[in-house]
Amino acid sequence: MSIFNSHKEYGLLAKLFHWITFIVLIIQIPFGFYLVGLEFSDRRIDLENIHILIGITIFYITLFRLIWKFFNPSATDGNSFFKGQIFIAKANHFLLYLCIFTITISGVLKKLYMGERLNFLFFEYGFNQDNFLLADTFYEVHIYTNYLLIALVTLHIFAVIIHHVVFKDKILNKIT
Ligand code: HEM
Ligand code: HEM
Repeated sequence: MSIFNSHKEYGLLAKLFHWITFIVLIIQIPFGFYLVGLEFSDRRIDLENIHILIGITIFYITLFRLIWKFFNPSATDGNSFFKGQIFIAKANHFLLYLCIFTITISGVLKKLYMGERLNFLFFEYGFNQDNFLLADTFYEVHIYTNYLLIALVTLHIFAVIIHHVVFKDKILNKIT
């Protein structure tokens, strides 16, 4: 299997990016909701740091994934069963990427506006001042974009099922 995409099938690297992101997100989203319910403690701080580390890693993975996508064709062959279908698929994919960036960046900005320093894996950074109003705003963005992501992923999986059951086109083979 080639590491590059073709018009028929995603390459090894795109497949790895897709499934690593999937596995990490199905852990990270419930992990985030679990975190909010915890009382303030050392354990909570440790878990929050893990949540942040995973989130920043997803940000980098998605950034590399988009750079890779830019140099590769999308496997869109054989997807057109009705007019506008490719547009809907592309819009869904675009919004999925947008949500991942919005969630990770709003999470980062929430912490930075709390006046905290963050470890960005390759460097550390902090604003050295706080603004709790902005911190709250970015946290709201963090929460609502998570709801949007859940809706989009549900739609995405629903589309794959429709492809299998109605169009019978084995779309999953392109990414597995
Ligand atoms: C967190 C969950 C998921 C996210 C964020 C996600 C995201 C994406 C994105 C962004 C693409 C477009 C790739 C590109 O061309 O850039 C894609 C393609 C695809 N995904 Fe997912 N995905 C998720 C889960 C799943 C699951 C569970 C399945 C299988 C049931 C699946 C099946 C597919 C298929 C078949 C394609 C190719 C679609 C096409 O070529 O039109 N995805 N996914
Ligand atoms: C794709 C990656 C991420 C996902 C899916 C995610 C998901 C979530 C979810 C679902 C919550 C619970 C929201 C609520 O109901 O109140 C949450 C909370 C939180 N997230 Fe994220 N998050 C991600 C990345 C990040 C990043 C990069 C940061 C910071 C650098 C971050 C910081 C936080 C903080 C501080 C909380 C709240 C803890 C609290 O104050 O109770 N998240 N996250």
